[in-house]
Amino acid sequence: MTVQTVYWIEGDGIGPEIWKAARPVIDAAVAKAYGKANRIEWKELLAGEKAFEELGEHLPQATMDVLGGAEVAMKGPLQTPVGKGFRSLNVTLRLAFDLYACIRPIKYFPGLETPVKHPEKVDMIVFRENTEDVYAGIEWPAGSAEAKKLIEFLRSELKVEVSPEAGIGIKPMTEKGSKRLVERAVKYALDHDRPSVTLVHKGNIMKYTEGAFRAWGYELARDKFGALTMTEEEAAAGGDKRLVIKDRIADNMFQVALKRPQEFSVIAAPNLNGDYLSDFLAAQVGGLGLAPGVNKSDRLAIYEPTHGTAPRYAGRDTANPSSLILSGAMMLEDLGWGEAAEMIQAAVAKAVLRKRVTVDLAPQVPGSQTVGCSEFGDILVNNL
Ligand code: NAI
Repeated sequence: MTVQTVYWIEGDGIGPEIWKAARPVIDAAVAKAYGKANRIEWKELLAGEKAFEELGEHLPQATMDVLGGAEVAMKGPLQTPVGKGFRSLNVTLRLAFDLYACIRPIKYFPGLETPVKHPEKVDMIVFRENTEDVYAGIEWPAGSAEAKKLIEFLRSELKVEVSPEAGIGIKPMTEKGSKRLVERAVKYALDHDRPSVTLVHKGNIMKYTEGAFRAWGYELARDKFGALTMTEEEAAAGGDKRLVIKDRIADNMFQVALKRPQEFSVIAAPNLNGDYLSDFLAAQVGGLGLAPGVNKSDRLAIYEPTHGTAPRYAGRDTANPSSLILSGAMMLEDLGWGEAAEMIQAAVAKAVLRKRVTVDLAPQVPGSQTVGCSEFGDILVNNL
């Protein structure tokens, strides 16, 4: 019997109720697919408001210690407590455990109304770099002593003029950071028989950051996966089944991903492009309501819904648990329990097709019957 330990963090706001609906679905799918052969052992870790109430801190050391040695975890959404100087718990976790790849599959569930005519043509998975770029948080407000000092340094030492009234932000991107992200995307594409990996960058303008991302990406593919990959030019010659590595400039990417989404499969992007692009693509298939995600280091994966704590719905048993449940399915697939993962995806698809959805999705499913959070979980268990 295989027992897989999964550490879980309940999360704030709607966290408790979406977990209550999600866990039985994940457990039932595993039981149905493998009988007694596979089982998840859930171990709770405290974080967020629950940790603050019980232990007086939002991210207890005990939680960090366990995650430091863990491989698989799932978390509900964590609220960023309002107040100056309080760093988001999500960002803290991402940085503390070097969760450098944010991975989000984007696929259409038939029955959902969407803003595009052919959402079924969208089947992509975005690998977004999670630790570098303008998100590194190195910036100073206009007029601050630091901004002034930096502007003076740029003028006197590097002979470039920046308006003394400017706020300043810094965009660091490294070869290591770019290559490890692209490597993950290429490996995924090869393992899952995907046709292409597209590097999305703005290298025509930001040559030494975004442009370098593109160059490092191609270099990585060539050096590590040379026999298994080819460029778009090589692919155009025809007759070859290797994985295509291509690139698109970000602004063009938004156009072509809308007009011809079927031309794209795996996406690898620096932090900011990846952030924009994953929400943009999710909108094409009907929004974030059904969008799962995972943040990964080389050792630890933390699966989590893409939405926040939805305080408006908290405690009402009306929130949509799908994003957490589908994140669970991603986890099962990564564990090699693909049958259980597929059962969960099919169960969600069936609920949408039968027009039984939660309040957030109801406006997108004409003629639907709105069900609560726990009821939706029950429906999925029955659908398995
Ligand atoms: P949010 O995702 O919580 O809410 C955005 C909108 O979507 C709201 O109208 C909300 O009611 C709705 N919504 C979200 N999830 C839903 C669900 N499962 N079912 C039904 N409706 C749902 O984003 P918002 O309002 O910007 O953030 C609220 C809090 O969540 C903040 O404290 C923020 O820091 C935190 N947050 C945490 C994240 C995480 O833990 N990864 C991600 C995003 C936000």
